[in-house]
Amino acid sequence: MANVAVVLGLNYGDEGKGKVSTFLASKSDIALRCTGGNNAGHTVEFKGDKIVFHLIPSGILNENTEAVIGNGVVIDPKVLFEEIQVLQEHNIDLNKLHISTRAHLIFPYHIQEDKLFEDLKEDDKVGTTARGIGPCYMDKADRIGLRVIDMYNPTFEKKLRRNIKNKNKIFALYNYPILDEEEIVKQYLTYRDMMKPYVIDTVAYLHKALEENKNIVCEGAQATGLDMDLGDYPMVTSSNPTIGGIQTGSGIGARYLNEVYGVCKAYASRVGEGPFITEQNNEIGDTIRELGHEYGATTKRPRRCGWMDLVALKYAVNVNGVTALALNHLDTIGKLGKAKLCVGYQLDGKVYDEYSDDIIGRENEVVPVYEEFDTNFAIEKEISYNNLPIDAKRYIERIEKHLGVPVKFIGTGPDNEDTIIR
Ligand code: IMP
Repeated sequence: MANVAVVLGLNYGDEGKGKVSTFLASKSDIALRCTGGNNAGHTVEFKGDKIVFHLIPSGILNENTEAVIGNGVVIDPKVLFEEIQVLQEHNIDLNKLHISTRAHLIFPYHIQEDKLFEDLKEDDKVGTTARGIGPCYMDKADRIGLRVIDMYNPTFEKKLRRNIKNKNKIFALYNYPILDEEEIVKQYLTYRDMMKPYVIDTVAYLHKALEENKNIVCEGAQATGLDMDLGDYPMVTSSNPTIGGIQTGSGIGARYLNEVYGVCKAYASRVGEGPFITEQNNEIGDTIRELGHEYGATTKRPRRCGWMDLVALKYAVNVNGVTALALNHLDTIGKLGKAKLCVGYQLDGKVYDEYSDDIIGRENEVVPVYEEFDTNFAIEKEISYNNLPIDAKRYIERIEKHLGVPVKFIGTGPDNEDTIIR
């Protein structure tokens, strides 16, 4: 049977999914993105250069791996063609890139709406990446979104003009700049022609690949904490980065998803607003940020840092049906000397060792229950689990005990090769 491996973030994004995806893609026929858009970002070292991916699955860097942007992705064509250009400069074969007919398009009005809608939230801003992701998914749900396939329909220009006019009425109402209708139409008619060679029915393509027993890796974007249904609503993204989004965003049936890798770090981080129970808004958090280089790949924003939260992670493992973990940045906590794992939440005198809805809206009142570990070790370039220092193993085994799944990948340094595969 075909093997479909899914790589998902278990916290708030930026767990280092790219590292695991890149490794799995080297053994896969197809690398696939299913959700989100260019709010995601990861950097891959390629022949001495750094390539930043926001939309195209990084697996395309492997000579024999095809890349698919699935129907659940929202595509900003400007960003897409910037990425294509970088790949062309590196002589990557772009005949291997396939874009879904059903993927929705981001337009300049979505980007401006992202700013406007954040402004209107007053004290409840989400802290979005301002890439137009939320407004594009809003239009999709409102059934006025325009998909890749719609560009090739004679009604495209009429629908696009209608949308721009309606959006401009909203912008006028709030004294936001009026967008140039002619310019946008011209731009997207050009994108239409540029995109044509890549556009296919990716659902049918993937079904055929499954029939042919091909190996597929799904590169998840964002993470469980940011899931619109299962994350910290409303401080979330506007899609489903959990396992369900992989199915609806690709058309691959549940029974094929046989390996689910949950990715997390040996500490935790978050960008943007929202609850973060184990956050260390202090010197420890600052040290983790510097040691772990915790600055956004997409927005360069400094990330909030804190301790690993096993209660939230257990929830994420259950929600996604995780079969194995990838634990990144073990080397980073090895530089801290001591590290803590949150193993429970204390609220109203009660200790929760599993996630509970009781804490919703009261995250700031939760007192984390920590266990402290000695983490004074240097493990860079280590490739064998058996050779790891006892303190590193103790930390990993405590995580496995709480989460009930094995740690299969261990990140020991920034490069892709700095990984122990167990
Ligand atoms: P949006 O996806 O731009 O609407 O942003 C919604 C929230 O998700 C914000 O808190 C963002 O910082 C966060 N977010 C979106 N994409 C990512 C990501 O790839 N990594 C980390 N945080 C993200």
